[in-house]
Amino acid sequence: MAKYIIEKSDPLRGEVTISGAKNAVLPLMAAALLSEGPCVIRDAPALKDVEIMCRLIEALGAEVDADLDQNVVSITAKEIKAYQAPMDLVVKMRASILVLGPLLARTGHAVISMPGGCAIGDRPIELHLKGMRALGADVTINEEGSIITCSCEQLRGATIYLDFPSVGATENIVMAACMARGTTIIENAAQEPEITDLVNFLNKMGARIKGAGTDTIKIEGVEKLHGAMHYVIPDRIESGTFMVAAAISRGTVLVKNVLPDHVKPVMAKLKECGVEVVVSDEGILVNADKGELISTDIKTLPYPGFPTDMQSPFMALLTTVEGTSAVIETVFENRYMHVKELRKMGASIKVDGRCAIIEGGGKLHGAKVNATDLRGGAAVVLAGLVAEGRTEVDSIYHIERGYEHFVEKLRALGGRIRREED
Ligand code: UD1
Repeated sequence: MAKYIIEKSDPLRGEVTISGAKNAVLPLMAAALLSEGPCVIRDAPALKDVEIMCRLIEALGAEVDADLDQNVVSITAKEIKAYQAPMDLVVKMRASILVLGPLLARTGHAVISMPGGCAIGDRPIELHLKGMRALGADVTINEEGSIITCSCEQLRGATIYLDFPSVGATENIVMAACMARGTTIIENAAQEPEITDLVNFLNKMGARIKGAGTDTIKIEGVEKLHGAMHYVIPDRIESGTFMVAAAISRGTVLVKNVLPDHVKPVMAKLKECGVEVVVSDEGILVNADKGELISTDIKTLPYPGFPTDMQSPFMALLTTVEGTSAVIETVFENRYMHVKELRKMGASIKVDGRCAIIEGGGKLHGAKVNATDLRGGAAVVLAGLVAEGRTEVDSIYHIERGYEHFVEKLRALGGRIRREED
């Protein structure tokens, strides 16, 4: 199994260009199943999750032409030949559940096993299923609770209130409702930028959707969707990770191809820590080489709150800042697996339920650690860059699911990190 070897590095300096967003490209690819015509998705990041989604969509009968070196994925779903998503792919990636809505809308049938992904919490999908039922689908789950079968004659518009603004459930319902008869209203919808990106793509395909980016999304069903071309938005979590990388190394990095509005909470929290953050036409300049940083508290929330995906990288930063910081994770109940790994590197962190207390400022040292999940993996890499000695990160496949050219980008900024095959 491959691993990353990291040595204590000088402060990061230079520029980094952010890739297309993982969490945007996956629903966009699923949405391509809604049209018989060709869809072209540009700025698609070269990631393991994108490869899995390509295979999943292909298995359903679509023609997929992915040139990830050029960041282009072309999908033509002239005919859907299967409505059962292959279990071996679904268990590898939670976002596989996103084919549920499109399959149901296009064929009237969808069979899917319970999705996999990072073990960061229970991650139920009852809100997705509640949405499909409200649109008129018959939803059954087998006795073992492992296979979900959905079917319908014709989906019909409905008003659906989400008990929690789930990103995936909002996306699935929007996609299913595009070709439903009548109007669908999603209340307490998720407001993440990736949803707006999906809706922009669907509207280019001929859908009639309003309100993306607010908590109420209105979808007027149309007969058919056609193909379209779309550029994926930049990855706000990758942007945030490199902003924090600049801060943890006390360096100066210009983060390019970032939409500042999408990273407001990360910018705000970095500023609270005493990091200089300057937005310009070129990107976001993060400068942490002037003086001591200050401890702060973070609480994760649905967008536009502080993103749960940035919790672990930010926690790595807080371990290097003198004083006490508190982190409250409200989105996922088990998103502290990286804490054990950061402790192996000398960090002082106490966890009580959803709250973590960090006594920062002590020296981190290199250790053999695990990438426990995608973002937790990024956290230990960032800690490794400033830890004394050598850090070895195992299970890096988690990191490679979500960060395009992570090692190369860090190395270009002066990070002493390399990938090693065992
Ligand atoms: C997406 C992102 C993920 C991010 C998360 C929250 C993708 C591919 N992944 O995941 O990186 O961490 O949003 O920003 O876009 N929930 C339920 N019932 C449901 C669905 C969700 O209780 O039916 C709960 C989950 O257990 C979790 C919370 O809602 O506690 C948020 O989950 P959700 O917004 O659905 O996240 P994902 O779409 O899975």
